[in-house]
Amino acid sequence: MVGYAFMGAAHSQAWRTVNRVFDLPARASMVAVCGRDEAKVAEAAARLGWAEAVTDWRELIARDDIDVIDVCTPGDSHAEIAIAALEAGKHVLCEKPLANTVEEARAMVAAAVKARTVGVRSACGFNYRRVPAVSLMRNLIAAGRIGAIRHVRAVYLQDWIVDPNFPLVWRLQKDKAGSGALGDIGAHIIDLTQFVTGQRITGVSGLTETFIKERPLVEASAGLSASAGSATGEVTVDDAALFIARLDGGAVATYEATRFATGRKNGLRVEVNGEYGSIAFDLERLNELEFYDATQPAAEQGWSRILVTEGDHPYMGAWWPPGHIIGYEHSFTHEMRDFIEAVATGADPTPSFEDALQVQLVLDAVARSDASWVSVAP
Ligand SMILES: NC(=O)c1ccc[n+]([C@@H]2O[C@H](COP(=O)([O-])OP(=O)(O)OC[C@H]3O[C@@H](n4cnc5c(N)ncnc54)[C@H](O)[C@@H]3O)[C@@H](O)[C@H]2O)c1
Repeated sequence: MVGYAFMGAAHSQAWRTVNRVFDLPARASMVAVCGRDEAKVAEAAARLGWAEAVTDWRELIARDDIDVIDVCTPGDSHAEIAIAALEAGKHVLCEKPLANTVEEARAMVAAAVKARTVGVRSACGFNYRRVPAVSLMRNLIAAGRIGAIRHVRAVYLQDWIVDPNFPLVWRLQKDKAGSGALGDIGAHIIDLTQFVTGQRITGVSGLTETFIKERPLVEASAGLSASAGSATGEVTVDDAALFIARLDGGAVATYEATRFATGRKNGLRVEVNGEYGSIAFDLERLNELEFYDATQPAAEQGWSRILVTEGDHPYMGAWWPPGHIIGYEHSFTHEMRDFIEAVATGADPTPSFEDALQVQLVLDAVARSDASWVSVAP
């Protein structure tokens, strides 16, 4: 695994757990983790359960006892690491968004396609697909329970940079992150809605906004450097992105991704309206699915709350008795479960790099559409 902070910790938890919960054709063995600071990566390896720590990801790729490279770094290094790993015959699991640009994503797809011809697999980590309620949502829609889809409504709302003094971390720098709320959390709802509907976005019209254009440098705000003083730097990504879209099955959709929804910490909500009913998912209630079945007698229609904890619900058979709920981290355990099973049985895990490139194309289209804007004349 490369990178050991937020996603590194989430992935480590999943790699530690996956074989203890699921009966899989292969075992994950946590061989080595890479970070750039020797002392910090050694501490992280001990804490997260990795046998060894290294300071250059190329060392991982050169080793014969490593089969999978798990990329948990910011987007500016995804392409370089993933392509080198695939060329060296390592299966790759890469965090989302796949890359910082369409060009990089296309190069990653080319490497993945070539690697696949010799049985080397790759996938992108859109973990919310693996929430059991989201999988159930997809299954119900695929079974035709809400008929033709008319509307998709998706929001992903956070508030962690509302304070203008929050420092200029890598997520606020285009050269490191590619984009802001758009690629970070907008990418999730793009993938999730395409996953549950089985439809792809064919066109968008969007707007992005950067509310706070200058922020304190990390060094200055942490008091790490006296010379940094009160220095600030330019925010080069969007704080919020909103767009409308058409999907190839005839649905229309709205999307909102923002880091300025004061009070909303990680508010991901998706609702789909169809000709026979509607289904909604809310990450803050991730064990539940809201279902409105309009085929019931009118007198009995109403929103029902399905508690997605039955043994025959997706992934849940391996966990606890019905009603004993699961959490955020389980989505990553399920991601590793699906990845291991696919790789061990010689199948392609999903979402593929091609799927993730399609998300990248949507991100790029939203960013470009920002240029076309119709002013309302007084
Ligand atoms: N699936 C999700 O829900 C989700 C959530 C958060 C982040 N992410 C994605 O995960 C990736 C990492 O985000 P994060 O939140 O974990 O960031 P983070 O800042 O918490 O961690 C990044 C890690 O990468 C390391 N790193 C950076 N460059 C490196 C290099 N060249 N070599 C080795 N290590 C390097 C850093 O030291 C750090 O350990 C991003 O692509 C992000 O979009 C996904």
